[in-house]
Amino acid sequence: MFNVENVLEQLTLEEKVLLCQAKDMWHTNGVERLDIPGILLTDGPNGIRYNKPDSYLPEPSTAVPTESILSASWDRGLIRKVASLMAEECQYYGINVLLAPGVNAKRSPLGGRNFEYYSEDPYLTGTLAAEMIHTMQEHGVGTSIKHYAANDQETRRFTEDSSVDERTLREICLKPFEIVMKKAKPWTVMAAYPKLRGQHLCENSYLLQEILRKEYGYEGVVLSDWSATVNKVESHKNGLDLEMGSFYRKEELLSAVQSGDIGEETINEHAKRVLELIKKSLEGKKETDADWNAHHETAREASAKSAVLLKNEQGVLPLARGAHITVVGKFAEQPHIRGGGSSGTNSGSIDIPLTFIKEYADVVYAPGYESEQTDAVLIQEAAKAAKNTDAVIVFTGTTDLTESEGCDRINMLLPESQIDLVNAVAGVNANVIIVNSSGAPVEFRQIEGSVKAILHMGLGGEGMGKACAELLFGDANPSGKLSETFPIRIENTPAYPFYPGYNDDVIYHEEILVGYRYYDTKKIPVQYPFGHGLSYTSFTYSDLRLSTNELRNGEKLAISLKVKNTGNRIGEEIVQFYVSAPKSYMPRPEKELKEFAKVELKPGETKEIHVKLDDSAFSYYIPHLHRYAVESGEYIIMAAASSQDIRLSETIIYHSEDELRLPFTEYNSMGEFYNDDRYENVTKKVYTKLGITENHFMFPILSSIIVKDLPAVMALPKVSPDGEPISIPKLQRCLLENRWID
Ligand code: GLC
Repeated sequence: MFNVENVLEQLTLEEKVLLCQAKDMWHTNGVERLDIPGILLTDGPNGIRYNKPDSYLPEPSTAVPTESILSASWDRGLIRKVASLMAEECQYYGINVLLAPGVNAKRSPLGGRNFEYYSEDPYLTGTLAAEMIHTMQEHGVGTSIKHYAANDQETRRFTEDSSVDERTLREICLKPFEIVMKKAKPWTVMAAYPKLRGQHLCENSYLLQEILRKEYGYEGVVLSDWSATVNKVESHKNGLDLEMGSFYRKEELLSAVQSGDIGEETINEHAKRVLELIKKSLEGKKETDADWNAHHETAREASAKSAVLLKNEQGVLPLARGAHITVVGKFAEQPHIRGGGSSGTNSGSIDIPLTFIKEYADVVYAPGYESEQTDAVLIQEAAKAAKNTDAVIVFTGTTDLTESEGCDRINMLLPESQIDLVNAVAGVNANVIIVNSSGAPVEFRQIEGSVKAILHMGLGGEGMGKACAELLFGDANPSGKLSETFPIRIENTPAYPFYPGYNDDVIYHEEILVGYRYYDTKKIPVQYPFGHGLSYTSFTYSDLRLSTNELRNGEKLAISLKVKNTGNRIGEEIVQFYVSAPKSYMPRPEKELKEFAKVELKPGETKEIHVKLDDSAFSYYIPHLHRYAVESGEYIIMAAASSQDIRLSETIIYHSEDELRLPFTEYNSMGEFYNDDRYENVTKKVYTKLGITENHFMFPILSSIIVKDLPAVMALPKVSPDGEPISIPKLQRCLLENRWID
């Protein structure tokens, strides 16, 4: 294998410049003269999308559940298993880097690519993304964590300018990237299309250099999203290593080096990283077959373990084998398994729900709808079929036209054809069960009251057809829990009505209050909360124990909890740990997810789970300190079955060395000094010196009071020890420096 430094020394400037741009749509350049090949990068997050040269259709690959439902498994092991099959298929097709995972924020359920992103919670997103990245790279296939960053909508994504305050940027947009950089070291990072604070992300030196390189210590390749490099030279000057999606700007970069606009040493850095990526790819390459059947089984398992049982009134589910049931909805025979855009795949085999449901029961089927528009004939036919059967299963969901890269949804409504269908069959059968396929939340408010059960399959991939049948009839026990809140209606959501902005101004008005951080803090009712999911059994929590009730910087908090299966069948429970800081200096969400664990329990079985929290579970980003810090004070540790189902909690006191509060200046009032423990003692001395009683200074207009008491102030020596005249600002400066006047 070649030595990067040796190769670099032999390269001409042109060869180095060529390493900084793609050779074609999916390949990098190599160095032909030295027999160093380019490498192949391709999508996607929900299965391999690989087109052979000149073929329109991608090669067959396994369509796995999309991130937005896979994350509802909260299952690190399952993420690893899915990543392994994707790595094997990459090796099979000779793909060196998979352009995944997507980890962008879910400011609104309308986000067109929410289906491709894990969760509204950045900790859950970052943790699962790190598992995927680590696993793929362990199997010799690189990844590209995307889209870096604040690319949280599809509307005007090539031109919009994200205006994000620093805390939101850090705690929401960047947090998944930060977690991944610590845990998984992705071979590449994909810089996004939009601008951030006026600078395109492919040339955004704050993000690419200050944060990614200096703060995160990232050493891999920064590549652009396809054709996202607007100013080529500026981009490479500010941290972009590899321009993808356009491959005709070599001269621009060459002449920039020759003119001295960009130093050759900068080009050397970029070329070196790309050579390192090529080397890692060649070292990781394996000639392998792909076990398509095993992969299909994994896709089925992943769908069954991710699906979320949102509602199950009167235990209508699981249905009995041999039941006489009606199945309605086109998605029962043409399942909606993925979103639109670059993550599309060509699945080798897709399980048809109707086929597998028929293996369990005596089924009458009616399509119910052909499109989003209501068809009265189809509805009438479905209502007729729904009479006198034990239950009706209605397949609902979005389509890959409404949930797709390149556009955001205009509303969260189910199509009118589906709403009319549900209401029609509910009119003739009391046991209506919804099987929903959508990559992001939909409004259930128009049908929720008419249905007994809702099983959310998400965009469940090619195995969801068998998975939903197993779940409906109890061969599988639902264990998924929502990784994105289902709001009651779009008007209740954090970014409404500002999302997706207008013109190119995209302002994150909701700031850090994204998802449950918003609903729980502002006590806004939701349809189904973050972390919610039912099972066919039940669980109790007990014995929440903390290793200590006092914590200091750098110390870890060990937590243990007992979980018992109190039902009559085996099941898996996802326990969530939230931290709340009720009296924080700056506003914080009412609670934040900081750890989670999934445990399988037999009927009657109890297990003890153990997790650990470090400073990152208590800290938050303090803009004027330019870093995360932990505030002294009280924190509540919650063990929960969902963000709104807190089972047990304990309080700890954190004694921090961090001083978060903004230092005062002479322009703060004396009352602020008086009321702040950092300046309280000196301030009181000054008051005594001035003969002014404390109660004069409990009001915010202190300076004017002091000025009114000017005689007292003037009684002071005319000049202070350092020769300056005594004045209010002078007084305050002395307080600041904890320095007495005489
Ligand atoms: C797209 C997407 C990105 C994808 C790339 C290659 O525009 O934004 O996610 O990986 O192009 O298809």
